[in-house]
Amino acid sequence: PDNSLDDRIQAAKRKVGAECIILGHHYQRDEVIKFADFRGDSYRLAKAASESKGRYIIFCGVHFMAESADVLGRDGQVVILPDLNAGCSMADMAEITQVETAWEHFIRAGITDDKGTGVTPITYVNSTAAIKAFVGERGGLVCTSSNASGAYAWATARNEKVFFLPDQHLGRNTGYAKGIPLNEMVVWDPYMLNGGLTNDQLKRAKVILWKGHCSVHQRFLPEHIERMRADYPGIQIVAHPECRWEVCQKADATGSTDFIIKFVKAAPKGAAIAIGTEMHLVHRLATENPDKTVLSLDDNGCLCTTMYRISPQHLCWALENLVDGNIVNQIKVKPKVKHWAKVALDRMLEVR
Ligand code: 13P
Ligand code: SF4
Repeated sequence: PDNSLDDRIQAAKRKVGAECIILGHHYQRDEVIKFADFRGDSYRLAKAASESKGRYIIFCGVHFMAESADVLGRDGQVVILPDLNAGCSMADMAEITQVETAWEHFIRAGITDDKGTGVTPITYVNSTAAIKAFVGERGGLVCTSSNASGAYAWATARNEKVFFLPDQHLGRNTGYAKGIPLNEMVVWDPYMLNGGLTNDQLKRAKVILWKGHCSVHQRFLPEHIERMRADYPGIQIVAHPECRWEVCQKADATGSTDFIIKFVKAAPKGAAIAIGTEMHLVHRLATENPDKTVLSLDDNGCLCTTMYRISPQHLCWALENLVDGNIVNQIKVKPKVKHWAKVALDRMLEVR
C-alpha cells in the first residue's frame, strides 16, 4: 500500500511537535482520527481545547467545534479547521438574525425581556458563536448532548421557561426526561410568521423548541428499532439524543457519542447492540469489539457528510503549512462575540 500520505502527516506532526495538538471527534474517518492526540465527544473536545497548552490546535471536527475551541483557548492560540467546508447542517438551521427576531417577539408577547427575565435560553453547542454570545448575554448557557440534563436544571433554577435551540429533538428528549410533558413544549418555526405560535401558546409553554434537527440522526425511525428487535431477539438499542423522541423512547439507552462508546464496551461478550448514530463511529465500535455484534440501527448507515470532509489530504496540507510557518484555515471568532460566547461556554463546562 502507498503510505506516503501517512508518512508525510507523521513527519510534519513530528516537526511541529508539542506546539500543536490534533483534536478528533468520534465521527471522523479512521484515516484521520488515527492521528488525533485526543479524541472525544463535543463536550470533552471543548474541555481539551480549554486546557490545551500548545500554540496550535488542529480541529478534526466541524466548524462550530473549532469556533468553540477558539473561544475557550488561551490568547494567542491558533485554531485550524483543515477544511473550511466542514460545517454542520443543524447549526445552519439557526441564523443569529432569526434568533434575534424570535427573542424580540418573546419580549412583545410579554414572556421575557432583553436580559432573559422569564425565559432562559439554552443553545446546543451545535450553533454559531454569535448565537452562543446572544444566549450568554441573556443569562443562558451552552449545552452538549452529554450535559443537556444538567443544563436544563441550571436553566430552570433561573426561570421556569426554557428556549432551546437549534435541535428540537435534543431539547424535547431532555425536557421530557426531566418530567416536562410534551404538551407543555411548543416548536418555534423561524420560517413562519410569529414562529407559527400564538401568544397564548408561548405563555403556557414551559419549553420553546427551535425547529432544527440533525439530518443524519433524524433518519433513524421507530420502525428500524422494531425490525432490529424482530431480527435479533434480545438486542440492545442505544441512540444519540439527536434522534427523534419516538426513537429515543423505544431505545434501551440514549446518550452522547462518549456514552455510546462506554455502553458498547460495558456490554457482555456475545451481546448484540444496534446504534443510532453516525456510521464511522458505529463501524469503529464494530471493529474494536469483535466479540460483540455491533450494528447500525439503519442498514444503510448514516453518514455525516460534513464531518467526512476532513480528509488526510487536508490534515497533511494544514500540518505541512505549519512546518513552513504558514497558518491556513484559521478559525477566529470576532472579539466582541467572544466575550459573551465564552460566558455561555464556561457555564457549559461547569455543568455536568
Ligand atoms: P456529541 O456531543 O455526542 O459528540 O455529538 C456531536 C454531534 O454533532 C452529534 O451529531
Ligand atoms: Fe451536525 Fe448532525 Fe453532523 Fe452532528 S451529525 S455534525 S449534528 S450534521
